[in-house]
Amino acid sequence: MKTAFTNASALLAALLLCSASAWAQTAPAAESAPASAMPGIQSMNIADVKPDASADPGYATQTNGERARVQPGNNAPMWRQVGSGVAGFSSLPKSQAPEAGVLIQPFVQYPGSRVTNAGEAWRQVRNNWLIPYGGSLLLIVLGAIALFHFKIGPMKVKEEPTGRLIERFSAFERSAHWANVAAFLTLAVSGVVMAFGKFFLLPVIGTTLFGWLSYALKNAHNFAGPLFAVSLLVVIVTFMRDNMPAKGDLTWLLKGGGIFSGHEVDSARYNAGEKVVFWVGVFALGLTVVVSGLAMDKLLPGLSYDRSTMQIAHMVHSVATLLMMVMMMGHIYLGSLGTKGALEGMRTGYVDETWAEQHHKLWFDDIKAGRIPAQRTPSAQPAGKPVQV
Ligand code: HEM
Repeated sequence: MKTAFTNASALLAALLLCSASAWAQTAPAAESAPASAMPGIQSMNIADVKPDASADPGYATQTNGERARVQPGNNAPMWRQVGSGVAGFSSLPKSQAPEAGVLIQPFVQYPGSRVTNAGEAWRQVRNNWLIPYGGSLLLIVLGAIALFHFKIGPMKVKEEPTGRLIERFSAFERSAHWANVAAFLTLAVSGVVMAFGKFFLLPVIGTTLFGWLSYALKNAHNFAGPLFAVSLLVVIVTFMRDNMPAKGDLTWLLKGGGIFSGHEVDSARYNAGEKVVFWVGVFALGLTVVVSGLAMDKLLPGLSYDRSTMQIAHMVHSVATLLMMVMMMGHIYLGSLGTKGALEGMRTGYVDETWAEQHHKLWFDDIKAGRIPAQRTPSAQPAGKPVQV
């Protein structure tokens, strides 16, 4: 008992001595105790400690064996090799997982940045650029559309409806459009939740529900992707002909379609604004989104599916998707609340003559002159009642 007590007091004394020494070494110079105050203990200001070049143990060049002798358990040399991208053994087939033996991507240095791991660089671009700027862009465009709607308001049809209907979209065109819309909206909602959900949904519904929701939406995203790819191709082929650039498109664009002056600029079946949405939003961005999405699904032949391919595909996909969503937000607004009677046309296939004359005068003139049939599907009956505008 007495021995245990003596051992404990010796331990306590040693601890007090050590902590006093440690304090003396880290305390600021003005407060540090003079060396003579504690006999036998050399106090030193940490700022005065200079590295001794001759004492370099050569850690940077040590092998695992050497390091194990001086610092057992420290396997920094192995991690240095891992960090340089050295490939180890993996039983996965190389054709399916070309980098399976490589634990982490090698360190790289991008112009103007410090040395970093490529995966970490990708993570930082995603978290510090794509998410904040992409999210802000979506909110700004949403705000601008709301401002336009409440300050300027939707485009109304100025004349009374005649009751005479023109077939604007065939059943096939409408089916292609709405199949594509269904896939697009599924992808957009699931994509937004995957990218931004943790900021606006997680705090509201909690981790359990958010976990299940994002898991379900991720699968919905994967299933809607192929439907979007196929329906997008059908939409592109179906609507391409009447979206070809034509005389008068430039004037339309320069005048902004007359949206602010209140006098709509004459246009054919589609105006120049719709053509820009078609070629930039649907054709270029839509195909980019599909191709980069297929790359992430490892479905593009001839690509090596290593980490850098995935990172590039992910960034291209994110940027193209954000831009496409922004353009489609404008299209969805103008195709629903923004233009009275437009949605009716895409829903039933028919528009009133007054609607056609006001929004697509050149197309209407062609119909009146008999160059384009008013009833494009011979057997079809005009659906429903005349358009309410
Ligand atoms: C809720 C979503 C959407 C609504 C309410 C909507 C509504 C409409 C409406 C009303 C029209 C007819 C416009 C007119 O008569 O001139 C139209 C045309 C069209 N829409 Fe949509 N749309 C939506 C989403 C989409 C998406 C996701 C795509 C493709 C990615 C798309 C591609 C087209 C195309 C290609 C046209 C033909 C006119 C053109 O080439 O611009 N739409 N849409």
